[in-house]
Amino acid sequence: MKCLVTGAKGQLGRALTEELGRRGIPTVTTDIESLNLTDAEAVEAFVVAEKPDVILHCAGYTAVDKAESEPEVCIAANAGASLNLARAALCTGAAMLLVSSDYVFSGEGDMPWETEDRREPLNVYGVSKVQAEEAVRSLLTRCWVVRTSWMFSAHGHNFVRTMLRLGRERHETPVVCDQIGSPTYAPDLAAFLCDLIQTQRYGFYHATNEGFCSWAEFAQRIFDEAGLSCSVVPVPSAVYPAAARRPLNSRLSKASLDRNGFARLPSWQDGLKRCLEEIGGRA
Ligand SMILES: NC(=O)c1ccc[n+]([C@@H]2O[C@H](COP(=O)([O-])OP(=O)(O)OC[C@H]3O[C@@H](n4cnc5c(N)ncnc54)[C@H](OP(=O)(O)O)[C@@H]3O)[C@@H](O)[C@H]2O)c1
Repeated sequence: MKCLVTGAKGQLGRALTEELGRRGIPTVTTDIESLNLTDAEAVEAFVVAEKPDVILHCAGYTAVDKAESEPEVCIAANAGASLNLARAALCTGAAMLLVSSDYVFSGEGDMPWETEDRREPLNVYGVSKVQAEEAVRSLLTRCWVVRTSWMFSAHGHNFVRTMLRLGRERHETPVVCDQIGSPTYAPDLAAFLCDLIQTQRYGFYHATNEGFCSWAEFAQRIFDEAGLSCSVVPVPSAVYPAAARRPLNSRLSKASLDRNGFARLPSWQDGLKRCLEEIGGRA
């Protein structure tokens, strides 16, 4: 089996490339400098030349607030790029895995979202991910759509690294307390994706670390684990203005993992511990 990983310099792409390497699976990678995925002709030429058996699409426009002021850029990078890759996969017979998001849901209620629940995004980024899901599913039967949430790793821009910086600079910091979801350590998700692509159990999945918390609880745990004395000041979303609206309830049900015989991922607290060890972030 030969894999193509897009977004290989991003949080997930990097973890996935490392995991595929550990498992000895031949892999070719791209990132924006080597292949802009919004260029349909270049994407097709690359996929035809490389002939991967599986395309793992981890690239994406992830600047959720910025997307509100440049929706066309976000839609092209998420929906357009996914369509280009799906067309190329159709052309060469590759299977494809799309990484999607909890932001496809409205965030109403407090029950975990099932994979088949109605998608009703609140922001441009969420719309772009719904369109990406549609593009892939409408063209390919051999595809997996894996929704995840609140990703963090030792690399790149993410909440853990931001909180470690703020925790060292400040005595207290406000953090949103009414959005509930699951932090997800990129290497844990990468391990699941490697297991998944070795099956033909195609379809929609929700995959996050186990357990739910608010951003404020997540921040407190980061400070505690890192030995930082900074206090979290819990604030409701309404008091913390952001360009993009975000779902309050981002809980994702793991029934898709159970149904298909996959082990659930470790707890988010366990993932956080390993991430901080990798960063060397303990004070
Ligand atoms: N991060 C989260 O909390 C989260 C939650 C749910 C779902 N997801 C999804 O999970 C996937 C991976 O997320 P991540 O956190 O690993 O993202 P990331 O760290 O932001 O990495 C994404 C990578 O994609 C690249 N990229 C953007 N536009 C591109 C284009 N047109 N052509 C080629 N490459 C392009 C980016 O390059 P630049 O850095 O130069 O832009 C970056 O290297 C994405 O699909 C994301 O939507 C993420």
